[in-house]
Amino acid sequence: MTMVYEDRGDEATAQVPVRRIKFTINGHKKVAEVEPRLLLSHLIRQGAGLTGTHMGCDTTNCGACTVLVDGQAVKSCTMLAVQADGHEIQTVEGLASASELHPLQEGFREEHGLQCGFCTPGMMMAAKALLDSNPDPTEEEVRWALSGNLCRCTGYQNIVKSVLWAAAKLRGDSQGAESSS
Ligand code: FES
Ligand code: FES
Repeated sequence: MTMVYEDRGDEATAQVPVRRIKFTINGHKKVAEVEPRLLLSHLIRQGAGLTGTHMGCDTTNCGACTVLVDGQAVKSCTMLAVQADGHEIQTVEGLASASELHPLQEGFREEHGLQCGFCTPGMMMAAKALLDSNPDPTEEEVRWALSGNLCRCTGYQNIVKSVLWAAAKLRGDSQGAESSS
Protein backbone atom coordinates (compact mmCIF):
# COMPACT_ATOMS: atom_id res chain seq x y z
CA MET A 1 0.00 0.00 0.00
CA THR A 2 1.37 3.44 -0.91
CA MET A 3 1.09 6.17 1.70
CA VAL A 4 1.37 9.90 1.01
CA TYR A 5 2.42 12.23 3.86
CA GLU A 6 2.68 15.97 4.32
CA ASP A 7 6.26 17.02 3.58
CA ARG A 8 7.52 18.42 6.89
CA GLY A 9 11.17 17.60 6.31
CA ASP A 10 13.00 14.29 6.59
CA GLU A 11 12.91 14.10 10.38
CA ALA A 12 9.12 14.41 10.69
CA THR A 13 8.51 11.93 7.88
CA ALA A 14 10.85 9.41 9.46
CA GLN A 15 8.83 9.59 12.66
CA VAL A 16 5.57 8.45 11.07
CA PRO A 17 5.00 5.01 12.55
CA VAL A 18 4.06 2.26 10.12
CA ARG A 19 2.94 -1.27 10.85
CA ARG A 20 3.06 -4.19 8.44
CA ILE A 21 -0.12 -6.22 8.42
CA LYS A 22 -1.25 -9.34 6.58
CA PHE A 23 -4.87 -10.04 5.77
CA THR A 24 -7.09 -11.77 3.24
CA ILE A 25 -9.60 -9.78 1.22
CA ASN A 26 -12.16 -11.52 -0.98
CA GLY A 27 -9.95 -14.60 -0.92
CA HIS A 28 -6.74 -12.80 -1.90
CA LYS A 29 -3.83 -12.68 0.54
CA LYS A 30 -2.42 -9.17 1.02
CA VAL A 31 0.34 -7.37 2.88
CA ALA A 32 0.07 -3.66 3.68
CA GLU A 33 2.14 -1.03 5.44
CA VAL A 34 -0.23 1.17 7.40
CA GLU A 35 -0.23 3.94 9.95
CA PRO A 36 -1.78 2.66 13.19
CA ARG A 37 -4.48 5.34 12.92
CA LEU A 38 -5.64 4.25 9.44
CA LEU A 39 -9.27 3.15 9.31
CA LEU A 40 -10.12 -0.23 7.80
CA SER A 41 -12.50 1.54 5.40
CA HIS A 42 -9.61 3.60 4.02
CA LEU A 43 -7.41 0.53 3.69
CA ILE A 44 -10.18 -1.15 1.68
CA ARG A 45 -11.01 1.85 -0.53
CA GLN A 46 -7.70 3.63 -1.05
CA GLY A 47 -5.30 0.78 -0.28
CA ALA A 48 -7.00 -2.17 -1.96
CA GLY A 49 -8.92 -0.03 -4.46
CA LEU A 50 -12.24 -1.69 -3.59
CA THR A 51 -14.53 1.31 -3.77
CA GLY A 52 -17.74 -0.69 -3.54
CA THR A 53 -17.45 -0.17 0.21
CA HIS A 54 -19.00 3.27 0.65
CA MET A 55 -18.37 5.96 3.24
CA GLY A 56 -21.51 7.82 4.27
CA CYS A 57 -20.66 9.30 7.63
CA ASP A 58 -17.30 8.14 9.03
CA THR A 59 -18.92 8.10 12.49
CA THR A 60 -20.53 4.62 12.79
CA ASN A 61 -24.01 5.86 11.97
CA CYS A 62 -24.94 4.90 8.41
CA GLY A 63 -23.61 1.38 7.82
CA ALA A 64 -22.66 2.11 4.19
CA CYS A 65 -19.14 0.90 4.98
CA THR A 66 -20.24 -2.51 6.31
CA VAL A 67 -17.98 -5.43 5.40
CA LEU A 68 -17.52 -8.91 6.84
CA VAL A 69 -14.53 -9.60 9.07
CA ASP A 70 -14.22 -13.33 9.73
CA GLY A 71 -17.88 -13.56 8.73
CA GLN A 72 -19.13 -10.89 11.14
CA ALA A 73 -20.71 -7.67 9.86
CA VAL A 74 -18.46 -4.76 10.83
CA LYS A 75 -18.71 -1.05 10.09
CA SER A 76 -15.27 -0.63 8.59
CA CYS A 77 -15.04 3.06 9.58
CA THR A 78 -15.17 1.86 13.18
CA MET A 79 -12.23 -0.52 12.96
CA LEU A 80 -8.57 0.27 12.51
CA ALA A 81 -6.70 -1.34 9.65
CA VAL A 82 -4.15 -2.80 12.06
CA GLN A 83 -6.98 -4.71 13.74
CA ALA A 84 -7.49 -6.61 10.49
CA ASP A 85 -4.05 -8.15 10.82
CA GLY A 86 -4.43 -11.92 10.39
CA HIS A 87 -8.14 -11.69 9.56
CA GLU A 88 -10.35 -12.37 6.58
CA ILE A 89 -12.30 -9.51 5.02
CA GLN A 90 -15.12 -9.80 2.53
CA THR A 91 -16.45 -6.78 0.66
CA VAL A 92 -19.36 -6.42 -1.75
CA GLU A 93 -16.97 -7.10 -4.63
CA GLY A 94 -16.53 -10.61 -3.23
CA LEU A 95 -20.22 -11.53 -3.48
CA ALA A 96 -20.55 -12.36 -7.17
CA SER A 97 -18.68 -15.16 -8.89
CA ALA A 98 -17.08 -14.64 -12.30
CA SER A 99 -20.28 -15.68 -14.07
CA GLU A 100 -23.14 -15.27 -11.59
CA LEU A 101 -24.57 -12.65 -9.28
CA HIS A 102 -24.98 -13.59 -5.64
CA PRO A 103 -28.65 -14.24 -4.72
CA LEU A 104 -28.56 -11.07 -2.62
CA GLN A 105 -27.60 -9.07 -5.69
CA GLU A 106 -30.32 -10.81 -7.67
CA GLY A 107 -32.81 -10.13 -4.89
CA PHE A 108 -32.05 -6.40 -4.85
CA ARG A 109 -32.55 -6.36 -8.62
CA GLU A 110 -35.75 -8.42 -8.57
CA GLU A 111 -37.39 -6.58 -5.69
CA HIS A 112 -36.16 -3.07 -6.59
CA GLY A 113 -34.17 -2.89 -3.37
CA LEU A 114 -32.19 0.19 -4.37
CA GLN A 115 -32.77 3.71 -5.55
CA CYS A 116 -29.53 5.74 -5.52
CA GLY A 117 -27.65 2.60 -4.43
CA PHE A 118 -25.38 4.33 -1.96
CA CYS A 119 -26.46 2.22 1.00
CA THR A 120 -26.71 -1.00 -1.04
CA PRO A 121 -23.22 -2.52 -0.51
CA GLY A 122 -23.53 -2.14 3.26
CA MET A 123 -27.09 -3.47 3.23
CA MET A 124 -25.98 -6.53 1.26
CA MET A 125 -23.06 -7.30 3.54
CA ALA A 126 -25.16 -6.92 6.70
CA ALA A 127 -27.76 -9.18 5.07
CA LYS A 128 -25.11 -11.73 4.14
CA ALA A 129 -23.97 -11.97 7.75
CA LEU A 130 -27.60 -12.60 8.73
CA LEU A 131 -28.30 -15.23 6.07
CA ASP A 132 -25.03 -17.07 6.77
CA SER A 133 -26.18 -17.64 10.35
CA ASN A 134 -29.95 -17.70 9.83
CA PRO A 135 -31.02 -19.01 6.40
CA ASP A 136 -34.75 -18.63 7.08
CA PRO A 137 -35.20 -15.29 8.86
CA THR A 138 -38.52 -13.67 9.61
CA GLU A 139 -39.22 -10.16 8.31
CA GLU A 140 -38.65 -8.88 11.83
CA GLU A 141 -35.26 -10.60 12.01
CA VAL A 142 -34.25 -9.03 8.68
CA ARG A 143 -35.33 -5.59 9.91
CA TRP A 144 -33.36 -6.10 13.13
CA ALA A 145 -30.23 -7.26 11.25
CA LEU A 146 -30.39 -4.15 9.02
CA SER A 147 -31.19 -1.75 11.85
CA GLY A 148 -27.65 -0.35 11.82
CA ASN A 149 -27.86 0.51 8.13
CA LEU A 150 -29.54 3.71 6.96
CA CYS A 151 -31.11 4.26 3.54
CA ARG A 152 -31.48 7.95 2.80
CA CYS A 153 -33.81 7.09 -0.06
CA THR A 154 -36.00 5.39 2.59
CA GLY A 155 -36.33 2.23 0.50
CA TYR A 156 -36.57 -0.06 3.51
CA GLN A 157 -39.67 -1.99 2.45
CA ASN A 158 -38.11 -3.22 -0.79
CA ILE A 159 -34.73 -3.80 0.85
CA VAL A 160 -36.36 -6.19 3.33
CA LYS A 161 -38.24 -7.91 0.48
CA SER A 162 -34.93 -8.25 -1.40
CA VAL A 163 -33.26 -9.99 1.52
CA LEU A 164 -36.23 -12.35 1.97
CA TRP A 165 -36.10 -13.09 -1.79
CA ALA A 166 -32.39 -13.94 -1.48
CA ALA A 167 -33.00 -16.11 1.57
CA ALA A 168 -35.60 -18.12 -0.33
CA LYS A 169 -33.28 -18.49 -3.34
CA LEU A 170 -30.39 -19.62 -1.16
CA ARG A 171 -32.65 -22.25 0.44
CA GLY A 172 -33.58 -23.48 -3.01
CA ASP A 173 -37.15 -22.30 -2.46
CA SER A 174 -37.66 -20.61 -5.82
CA GLN A 175 -41.43 -20.42 -5.29
CA GLY A 176 -40.78 -18.49 -2.09
CA ALA A 177 -38.53 -16.07 -3.93
CA GLU A 178 -41.17 -15.53 -6.61
CA SER A 179 -44.05 -15.13 -4.17
CA SER A 180 -42.32 -12.37 -2.18
CA SER A 181 -42.45 -10.06 -5.22
S1 FES B 1 -19.27 5.35 6.89
FE1 FES B 1 -19.12 3.80 8.42
S2 FES B 1 -21.04 3.82 9.43
FE2 FES B 1 -21.17 5.45 8.00
S1 FES C 1 -30.92 3.46 -2.05
FE1 FES C 1 -30.26 5.52 -1.72
S2 FES C 1 -29.43 5.50 0.28
FE2 FES C 1 -30.40 3.57 0.06
